[in-house]
Amino acid sequence: MASDNQIVFFDTTLRDGEQSPGCTMHHAEKLRFAHQLANLGVDIIEAGFAIASHGDFNSVQAIAREVSTSAKAPRIASLARCKREDIEAAARAIEPAAKNRIHIFLSTSDLHLAAKLKISREQALDQIAQSVALARGYAEDVEFSPEDATRTDLEFLIKACTVAVQAGATTLNIPDTVGYTTPAEYTQLFRTLRSRVPNSGNIIFSTHCHDDLGMAVANSLAGVEGGARQIECAINGIGERAGNAALEEIAAAIATRHDRYPYTSNLVMTELYPTSKMLGEIISFNCSPNKAVVGANAFAHESGIHQHGVLANPLTYEIMTPASVGFTGQNIVLGKHSGRRALEHRLTELGHKLSREELDTVYNRFTELADRKKSIYDQDIIALLHAHDAEPLVTNAS
Ligand code: KIV
Ligand code: ZN
Repeated sequence: MASDNQIVFFDTTLRDGEQSPGCTMHHAEKLRFAHQLANLGVDIIEAGFAIASHGDFNSVQAIAREVSTSAKAPRIASLARCKREDIEAAARAIEPAAKNRIHIFLSTSDLHLAAKLKISREQALDQIAQSVALARGYAEDVEFSPEDATRTDLEFLIKACTVAVQAGATTLNIPDTVGYTTPAEYTQLFRTLRSRVPNSGNIIFSTHCHDDLGMAVANSLAGVEGGARQIECAINGIGERAGNAALEEIAAAIATRHDRYPYTSNLVMTELYPTSKMLGEIISFNCSPNKAVVGANAFAHESGIHQHGVLANPLTYEIMTPASVGFTGQNIVLGKHSGRRALEHRLTELGHKLSREELDTVYNRFTELADRKKSIYDQDIIALLHAHDAEPLVTNAS
């Protein structure tokens, strides 16, 4: 039995993430990545949108068959519009999974109803009721998302959620489809829905935040503060436009600021970095170097003052250890801002213990090089020991 503070991580990298430009994945890649999501310990994998193409259907089905093989493995979800053919395709695709879910969505904002769906509010409510009920005939676990919820008239949103719950929805996801909400507003929205939707105590509320204003992670955590217990997110924050809330950032915030976010989850934190790297390799682009938690510079220290601090005690400039999120690379980066101590540290790691005089000489050569060259690699440092215009330094190299 999960505790009241247990967060369900719903990963949508393979659905919302894959929908974003440049992030298309092939069948084998999706399957490989889904296995890694299982290693990471996500609770639910949204494996795709089964009706979208034969390829999508086959991937969702293969992930259902090969990844959700036991009660402990992730639940597999497929997205579906409020259409019979979508729901039936989703049901067929997820059928082999040990645990599965149909995720139904319909826009509820007046803007989307008029401009996109061209239906009335009454028609929307009918479609929600019929589709959720149909889906419940195929799956015990049905999620409903009122798309563009954060720009939906509040009274109508409550009605739409109520209809979905009455028709059998077990999770209510409240998407901030266009990344428009703010943390305080989103917290309040969950509080209101939890108090106004009948029987809400028996369902799980979920966040789904886009990053158009750079607030997706903050909004997701604010949603949890308002009572949501499922977070929909994606690795490296990929997703439509500016992306989805980044799973690794939410996970790290909960782990690092447990005093403010006293929640638990099934995530294996040390799999965060390997999962991020695998995604970057599959979609052929990594996140930006300064990306929180998994960016190449997330734990890198180049300036002498910071390097000195970190070498004396990592807590001076690190709020979590690189190892805690599975980062195994170098975090002391040598460049023109680096100091003598960092150079000495790296030389020692490379097997060269220098006397004070030798270190002074090499440090002088190093600063000259660093003025000319952006990245200093280990081979550059070794070369400094044997600079061609000077006597090679005699070291006790191992
Ligand atoms: O952003 C969104 O509204 C969605 C829904 C389909 C859940 O991705
Ligand atoms: Zn989305």
